[in-house]
Amino acid sequence: MTISASEYHRHTSYHRDKMTAHHLDWRNQPNVFKDYPGLSPIVLPSNLPLPEEKLSSILGIRDARGRLEQVDSETFSLILRLASTITAKAFHADVDHFFRSAASAGALYPTEIYVTTHSVTGLDDGLYHFAVHRHGLYTLRTGDLSGYIIRTTQTSKNKRPALTFFLTAIFFRSVWKYRDRAYRYHLLDTGHVMGNLVMGLNALRLSHSLSYDFDDQRVNHLLGLDETKEVCLAVTHAYTDHAVSVSVDQKLDSLHDAISSASQVSAREIDCPIIREFHQSDASKTLRATPGPETLQGLGVAPEIWKKTAAPTNWPEVMNYSAALYHRRSKRNFLKKAISQDSHAALISSILMEKSPLSVASAKYDRSLFMGFLADDVEGMEPGFYLLDFANKSIGLVKRGFFIERMAHVCLDQMWLKNAAVHFLFLANTEYLDHIWGARGYRYAMLRAGQLGQSLYVSAAAMGLGCCGIGAFYDEEAAKLLGLNDTSSLLYLVAIGPVKSTPSSKG
Ligand SMILES: Cc1cc2nc3c(=O)[nH]c(=O)nc-3n(C[C@H](O)[C@H](O)[C@H](O)COP(=O)(O)O)c2cc1C
Repeated sequence: MTISASEYHRHTSYHRDKMTAHHLDWRNQPNVFKDYPGLSPIVLPSNLPLPEEKLSSILGIRDARGRLEQVDSETFSLILRLASTITAKAFHADVDHFFRSAASAGALYPTEIYVTTHSVTGLDDGLYHFAVHRHGLYTLRTGDLSGYIIRTTQTSKNKRPALTFFLTAIFFRSVWKYRDRAYRYHLLDTGHVMGNLVMGLNALRLSHSLSYDFDDQRVNHLLGLDETKEVCLAVTHAYTDHAVSVSVDQKLDSLHDAISSASQVSAREIDCPIIREFHQSDASKTLRATPGPETLQGLGVAPEIWKKTAAPTNWPEVMNYSAALYHRRSKRNFLKKAISQDSHAALISSILMEKSPLSVASAKYDRSLFMGFLADDVEGMEPGFYLLDFANKSIGLVKRGFFIERMAHVCLDQMWLKNAAVHFLFLANTEYLDHIWGARGYRYAMLRAGQLGQSLYVSAAAMGLGCCGIGAFYDEEAAKLLGLNDTSSLLYLVAIGPVKSTPSSKG
């Protein structure tokens, strides 16, 4: 059965009067860490010095000089640590809970990382699963897999990547709590990990390209996934200067059943067929129409005047990039206090600058997503609902007024949100996604929303501001509050503002 982006999004909308409570089956809680019984992980070098640069310089890379020529096992270990690592622990209901550098809806962490390597010094070529809790690698395949990867995923000019990262989601982890709506979180959460990975690749000066268009079945086969339980959502290639073209295809054997069984994370898993079916509806990778320049009109709201964004006179950073990554947590104790013009401009820059010259060929996904923000408390800025124009690096005021308290009501009455200074909004016209890209367009928009959401989180942390992603809202109420047309929706919201305790200055 084919399900469109509009149908899935509508089906999984929350309505104030139709919220049905389902109990959480605590005895059947999904395991948030993946292991392969019978395999022992290779432990990666740890305690390596983290990059000391400021986030502003990583996001603001203007040329690709200093690119990495060779990846060794230490750099590789560092990239994985920057992509995903354990940053905090809490003891609750007699169990340790671990928090990670990337935010995740309900702390359910559906995303897993796999990576194929080629010519990494100190590591055999092959396919590895990254076990975040061990900072180690499970070897799943050995040998040079470049031919298969190039034929199966989009690589830059058929160049052989030094590393290819595959980000998957294990359905049941988020389904356990969110049921049919979980696919939204599979994508957003995976986008968050992607955000970290891309920042890490920039920090270590590795050229990279994102691919959301790959042959689903062949990739899942490569990774040894049980496709009914776990699927690949995003691929990122990283290249050294020595990358050469390869054009040979390869055939790969199926991995042992014990490998695919590891996609099961609980004894009794609930299946949400709509998620599998919607995911499979995305199989077509053909662009059906060309996105036009008028796309911002597609939301049904338009500012009268656009203004070029001004770069901050200085980024008010209180800690460096690595410290911000480790300090990043979801903060809800917002103070009713303004953020400075510089902080706001830096947050906007972190979104608009996110594409560095090291990042190649991912522009085609950009038009799937629109962004705006509600500013109640930004110094020097008229309160209102604004839209952002990525292409022209501009912002435009759509409607004057204070919207944040009303948005807090829309967000399932999470009333602490009313004290945030800004709500960043991730928006899409789902009918437009279906029209241009087919159902797969939903992946682009949601993955990108998650990726940019993670940039906002880390930027906020670097400036000592609080931040929290919000995936729970009454969908129609959100569209109505913003004045969007019938086919447009809020996909995700990220609230930012000063919070009660800010971390001390570091780095
Ligand atoms: C996609 C997404 C949706 C989220 N939605 C909410 C939400 O509606 N309400 C909330 O309080 N926190 C929300 N969060 C924050 C998560 O609860 C938080 O990331 C998780 O508990 C892990 O904690 P940490 O971010 O402090 O590491 C969301 C996070 C993500 C990534």
